[in-house]
Amino acid sequence: MPATEALDQIVSQARDEFARAADPAQLEQAKARYLGKSGSITEQMKGLGKVSPDERRLLGAAINAAKDQIEAALAARREALQNAALEAQLAAEALDVTLPGRGRKRGGLHPVSLTLERIEQLFRSIGFEVADGPEIETDWHNFTALNTPENHPARSMHDTFYLEDAPGLLLRTHTSPVQIRYMQQHAARYAHLERMPEIRIIAPGRVYRVDSDATHSPMFHQVEGLMVGERVSFADLKGVVADFLRRYFESDELKPRFRPSFFPFTEPSAEIDLAFTSGPLEGRWLEIGGCGVVHPNVLRHGGIDPERYTGFAFGMGPDRLTMLRYGIADLRLFFDGDLRFLAQFQ
Ligand code: FA5
Ligand code: MG
Repeated sequence: MPATEALDQIVSQARDEFARAADPAQLEQAKARYLGKSGSITEQMKGLGKVSPDERRLLGAAINAAKDQIEAALAARREALQNAALEAQLAAEALDVTLPGRGRKRGGLHPVSLTLERIEQLFRSIGFEVADGPEIETDWHNFTALNTPENHPARSMHDTFYLEDAPGLLLRTHTSPVQIRYMQQHAARYAHLERMPEIRIIAPGRVYRVDSDATHSPMFHQVEGLMVGERVSFADLKGVVADFLRRYFESDELKPRFRPSFFPFTEPSAEIDLAFTSGPLEGRWLEIGGCGVVHPNVLRHGGIDPERYTGFAFGMGPDRLTMLRYGIADLRLFFDGDLRFLAQFQ
């Protein structure tokens, strides 16, 4: 076979093999068979030494031409494989940007949680810490230590959820037992000091009563407040509560009403009332909390000397504050779990 025919055959064989190479690795292997150290073209080059100088010039030029053709075929196949790979990748990652978005529903805080956050923020700003206590409480902390006698109506089976198999335990009916727990801890912690540092806390949380109507729910929230120190008075109580309410409702005109009342654990005692300024109950008064000067017996149960220290306490209903703020007429809406109602507060 004349040498140039053999070269043509090598070139067309190389083109076929390159075309069959399915990926870059196969292509590089095929390349080695032609252009590698012992590839067909390289072998042809080695043969040049055996021919006459005239023939060598012609054959050399033919081999170089064949080599150029093979290299061109190789480069073309390399590019084709790269393009194919890119196209496959694009197809796999296909994204239809014209489809409508799926969206993600935004969650949000419950209106009463929003109120509690606001209350905590406002009280922290005047130096009150946030304390808490258990929702399953002892009869002693919930009633006895709070100077509440055995025959008090709040202790009746009709008003309080008792735990059947655990005598002496109940679902707390108010956050006031946190007063006792906190005072005991505080008194013990600072027993070594000549003068006890002032107590200033609020204690938000869930409480339970056998109650159900538009302004009463069997589970509701309270925020207890307690301040005890050497000269804490009813005037401090009025100042702190009125200032808090004005800031909470963002109104300087707000006039809370302190209505004389009775609690076994405070003396004197008052209920705090506020009027609706919007919604279907506009103008109507709503009781939002009870308060008073801490009874000496309560201080004693908390381990604090009533001869030296005095204090005030209050227990407010944040559910009622939320009703007033948004003009909601029925408190049970907050706890029915109807998202159409709750989503309005986001
Ligand atoms: C008490 O629970 C006292 N512990 C408050 C207190 C604390 C007085 C410290 C003195 C010193 P009362 O039962 O009035 O008081 O409840 C306080 C507030 O809780 C009420 O004014 C009202 O805002 C709210 N509240 C009471 N019962 C319910 C209920 N069933 N649903 C929603 N809120 C209620
Ligand atoms: Mg009351």
